[in-house]
Amino acid sequence: MKTLTIRQPDDWHLHLRDAAILKAVAPFSAAHFKRAIIMPNLVPPVVTAADAMAYREQIVAALPPDSDFQPLMTLYLTEGSRADDIEAGFRDGLVTAVKLYPAGATTNSQSGVRNIEAVMPVLERMAEIGMPLCMHGEVTDPAIDIFDREAVFIERVLQPLRRRLPELRIVMEHVTTKDGVDFVQAAGENTAGTITTHHLIINRNAILAGGIRPHYYCLPVAKRETHRLALRKAATAGEGRFFLGTDSAPHVDPLKECACGCAGVFNAPNTLACLAHVFEEEGALDRLEAFTSLNGPSFYKLPVNERHVTLRWNDEPVEVPSKINAGGETITVFDPMFPIHWSVESGAS
Ligand code: DOR
Ligand code: ZN
Repeated sequence: MKTLTIRQPDDWHLHLRDAAILKAVAPFSAAHFKRAIIMPNLVPPVVTAADAMAYREQIVAALPPDSDFQPLMTLYLTEGSRADDIEAGFRDGLVTAVKLYPAGATTNSQSGVRNIEAVMPVLERMAEIGMPLCMHGEVTDPAIDIFDREAVFIERVLQPLRRRLPELRIVMEHVTTKDGVDFVQAAGENTAGTITTHHLIINRNAILAGGIRPHYYCLPVAKRETHRLALRKAATAGEGRFFLGTDSAPHVDPLKECACGCAGVFNAPNTLACLAHVFEEEGALDRLEAFTSLNGPSFYKLPVNERHVTLRWNDEPVEVPSKINAGGETITVFDPMFPIHWSVESGAS
């Protein structure tokens, strides 16, 4: 019987939403993860420390009664964000990081940043106080091909910012290209990258070959196979500045299965099982813990989790629900297109 015991994982990039979806999805993350960086792209967005406090309360209320899951709150950076408010939230321990969405890049990003100069005073303050910045790394220039938007963002935004504020701790969120991997590797100790579960498993064919499959559509969009392989290498090599951010991003099925579907993959229920499969395929099960449980805390300067969880390989494939129910609508769970044999033992010790 094959088992693997690792320190309890954290999710360094998670969308929990609010209202009925929050209630439906939060228990899945809380079942496996101890902490998660909570994305602030609600409508309206979580901009101020007071917004984060209210959202945190909603999340805690949606958790199972015995859960000790810890939401790590982020603030949505707008051109009107106040450095003092952000600093106060960080110093109080209420807020862990700030999220920068280029305006128009993705779901609910309209209030994001159009001109980076407008937020430089906030970024300078964050560099001073050591507060991490999570960046959605895609340009929104309509002239740039959607498959190139990450690479162009690195060139136009990330590299200049990296040079201008070397002390700023930057997380390049959901890296999807070899360009992103190369950037993080070359950028030194104040830069890290998160990688999603699904970008380790699918390439762009999953979305487009043989029919349009909207449940594989997310942003940044999955790229060609060479990029997926570069991500797998970065994640499974045990490199210290890459770690898991699932980017589990639920949308109800009617908003995915329509003429202009939303971006987002809901993978919270089967993420750890899928990752064990990927790391085993790569002969790297001994490095899964670094990716899920050690590298993230190290970059965020937080302690690693005390408890451990055990992953178990089952001879028979494990049943994972293909859909969950949220307030009368369904949400489709990520289908990795391979049978899932790993399960997560609860009762971490
Ligand atoms: O696919 C995505 N979904 N990418 C994002 O950046 C946002 C997310 C969402 O909120 O749905
Ligand atoms: Zn996201």
